[in-house]
Amino acid sequence: MDIIISLHSRLAYAVLALLVLATLNAFWGLVGKRSFGNKDLRLSLFGLIFSHIQLLLGLITYFVSPYFSAWEGGMGAVMKDSTLRLYLVEHPTTNILAIVLITMGWSLHKRATTDRKKFFRIAVFYGVGILLLLSRIPWQNWP
Ligand code: HEM
Repeated sequence: MDIIISLHSRLAYAVLALLVLATLNAFWGLVGKRSFGNKDLRLSLFGLIFSHIQLLLGLITYFVSPYFSAWEGGMGAVMKDSTLRLYLVEHPTTNILAIVLITMGWSLHKRATTDRKKFFRIAVFYGVGILLLLSRIPWQNWP
């Protein structure tokens, strides 16, 4: 199942890059008072789709990862070890929350009636999402 873990690790570059681009683009659109066009829609949609694929891969990765067997030692053993806690608790929960926020941003932008609101909702929800993701990447092992 190394292939799944490796895919999850590689796709992370595309996911993070797309989300950063979509967020910066939304900020620029907001500041520059542009109208929300096709390019803006596509960039946000690609960010959403890639993060959902990464979420599914992450869920599979969780169960096939060598870290998973650490649960046999019980909750206490996982929580006491900062590496195990990061991989088995913090990274998954924070990243699921981040993707929920990104999905909310996407839905709310669709309901927005003005271009300003569309950019604002993408910028804020994707922006907070990406900060959460970055806060729980296992930086000591990646890239
Ligand atoms: C957009 C969301 C996510 C991003 C950007 C992301 C990114 C990453 C990165 C960069 C690594 C390190 C890979 C390496 O060491 O080479 C990793 C590992 C891991 N991720 Fe995620 N992840 C995301 C979501 C998730 C979710 C939702 C879960 C579980 C429900 C998850 C479970 C794991 C596990 C278990 C590992 C450790 C795999 C191993 O080395 O055995 N990830 N992730």
